[in-house]
Amino acid sequence: MIIDILSGFPEMFRGPLTESIVQRAVLSDKVKIWVHDLRHFTADRHGKIDDIPYGGGAGMVLMAQPVFACLDSLKKSRSATLSTRRVFLTPQGKRLTQAVVDELATCEQLVLLCGHYKDVDARVFERDTWEEISVGDFVLSGGELVAALLVDAVVRRIPGVLGDEASAESDSFADGFLDCPYYTKPEEIDGLHVPEVLLSGHHAKIAAWRREQKLLRTKSKRPDLLDRRDDHQ
Ligand SMILES: C[S@@+](CC[C@H](N)C(=O)[O-])C[C@H]1O[C@@H](n2cnc3c(N)ncnc32)[C@H](O)[C@@H]1O
Repeated sequence: MIIDILSGFPEMFRGPLTESIVQRAVLSDKVKIWVHDLRHFTADRHGKIDDIPYGGGAGMVLMAQPVFACLDSLKKSRSATLSTRRVFLTPQGKRLTQAVVDELATCEQLVLLCGHYKDVDARVFERDTWEEISVGDFVLSGGELVAALLVDAVVRRIPGVLGDEASAESDSFADGFLDCPYYTKPEEIDGLHVPEVLLSGHHAKIAAWRREQKLLRTKSKRPDLLDRRDDHQ
């Protein structure tokens, strides 16, 4: 998979893309991630990528020209046969869920556009088709943190990226439930004990306990998930 990120603030990706599982996925060639600095594509002689909005008002607008130039250069350098998803990160988009992440993880090229300032020149979305994804009903200063978050969520769903695929299969949302509680060494700390069943070595009983815990947690923390399951059954 190739992930192309278009941003005017590429330094914001240092860290999220150079640590842990995403870094391992890049080093093992499971994914190629390119952060394209929009300032390298601007025709403005002072390197500007934003300007004041027509009609007036507060805030600056990310210009269409550097975005178009970057997209055009990508079209030349990427194979036309790749299955591509173009995603604009915006609070106006559909809410990011595990189902959306899993679907994005199957494409061959993911293009992420990070907005900034007041917004992006609307003609960017008139020229090309974009899906819109939001991380929630609140407003961030830019799409960079959202892109980093999305990349992390997508990359861990690429086959072979996680050391143990079963780990992701039992994570929250994978089967419509929240995940169960986990414990590690020592068996007792500050008078708190690990549930007996987890020390029993009885795999069937442990699996049944985990299933029950998933259900209890989901009922108590996110009953809406159970309602949704009922709707689909
Ligand atoms: C200050 S926001 C602009 C918000 C825009 N004026 C609006 O109300 O829809 C700047 C950029 O941050 C990103 N952004 C902010 N909040 C976001 C969210 N909840 N989900 C995804 N992207 C977001 C988008 O790329 C957006 O273009």
